[in-house]
Amino acid sequence: MSRSDGKQEHWVIVGAGQAAAQCIETLRRRGHRGPLTLVGEEPVLPYHRPPLSKKYLAGELTAERLLIRAESFYREHAVTLQLGKRALAIDRPRAQLLIEGHGALAYDRLILATGARPRPLALPGLAQAGTLAGVQGLRNLADTDSLRSAVAKAQRITIVGGGYIGLEVAATLRQRGQEVTVLEMAERVMNRVVAEPISRFYEAAHRNAGVQLQLNTRLEALESHDGRLSAIVLASQNDPPKRLSTDLLIVGIGVLPNEELAREAGLDCDNGIIVDEFCRTSDPQIYAIGDCCNHPSLHYGRRVRLESVDNAFEQANTLAANLLDTPTPHDRIPWFWSDQYAHKLLIVGLSQGHDEIILRGKPEAGAFSCCYLREGELLAIDTVNMARDQMAARKLIPLRWRPDRNRLSDPGIALKDCV
Ligand code: APR
Repeated sequence: MSRSDGKQEHWVIVGAGQAAAQCIETLRRRGHRGPLTLVGEEPVLPYHRPPLSKKYLAGELTAERLLIRAESFYREHAVTLQLGKRALAIDRPRAQLLIEGHGALAYDRLILATGARPRPLALPGLAQAGTLAGVQGLRNLADTDSLRSAVAKAQRITIVGGGYIGLEVAATLRQRGQEVTVLEMAERVMNRVVAEPISRFYEAAHRNAGVQLQLNTRLEALESHDGRLSAIVLASQNDPPKRLSTDLLIVGIGVLPNEELAREAGLDCDNGIIVDEFCRTSDPQIYAIGDCCNHPSLHYGRRVRLESVDNAFEQANTLAANLLDTPTPHDRIPWFWSDQYAHKLLIVGLSQGHDEIILRGKPEAGAFSCCYLREGELLAIDTVNMARDQMAARKLIPLRWRPDRNRLSDPGIALKDCV
């Protein structure tokens, strides 16, 4: 892409995660030759995050194995890396990105792939800055490295949040023989994303593995001794507050989109950076992709902000096509996964707005699916240890498919044949 002065345009990507790595790869694979710069706050090349709460935490993978691409890929594809550098502000009138300790970087197009960060715990007993030795989150490599060494020394570990992170970490630690308590404030685990039968299946799996799972339980306060966490205070619905000795508290209570750079530059934001189906923000020179953005879901007819590797990957591909003048709307059915013990949870589609749930198979059998319908149309499916349903659902949901309910409830009949 050339500018009016005949020079090639300079495209800058902020945030060196999955979305950025995929965007770079697709741009170069599709023949884009112009200068590309990747600016990332973490001092490492883009890496796969999902193993952090699983094999990497368990010490079964090295950091090198997490890398999406080796350093040589970026060198060979002429990508200028500015890693370990925080972008401080976007100067839109001058089309410059201000980088900590590095001055201003001029861009012709700017791609925001800034991701999300853990929601901080807000509690009495937590220092003003929001940190206390013994309280740990898990989102990036540095967090996981420090969590690994904290886990090795900890005697009493509590995890707050029974979502993806809390439960995956609990499974990893139990499999290493560690005692773990999980606190969830809702009445069932993973309530944000799955239906009750799936929650109950995973609750049983964790309890059978020896996890102390406490539902309907809130953290009221932290106690510390010599600047380190020593105990937590819990409140349950009907019981009086309870004190629990804990020397390591792992926090997995959701994430917040990293939208401040965009918001402070005056771009439209609302639970994420607002983009259209072509990944364009309210500034024609600036785009956003991945966990940081709030985009229209054409299939579901509403705006969504998705926390998903698949979405980062697909939006990066959509944006690359759009930047290379092949206008392509982002119109995908999202999917998600979680591995806990030997159980594989796969979620296809978004279930919000369903008016009926049909179970395929029995949870007791260890493999089943939950199908979400609205007025007879399959909206989404959660499958546990039934990967074939996931593959079929990815093809059927976009077709606004209406299954036969009786056949659907029979796991012996292939999903595609439930008509
Ligand atoms: N006390 C107890 N539980 C809490 C509290 C609290 N103060 N606040 C929130 N929770 C619970 C929620 O009810 C929810 O079940 O924490 C859980 C958070 O689950 P998720 O929203 O799935 O968030 P998390 O597990 O942190 O995962 C964040 O990381 O794995 C990636 O992209 C994936 O979306 C996922 C993200």
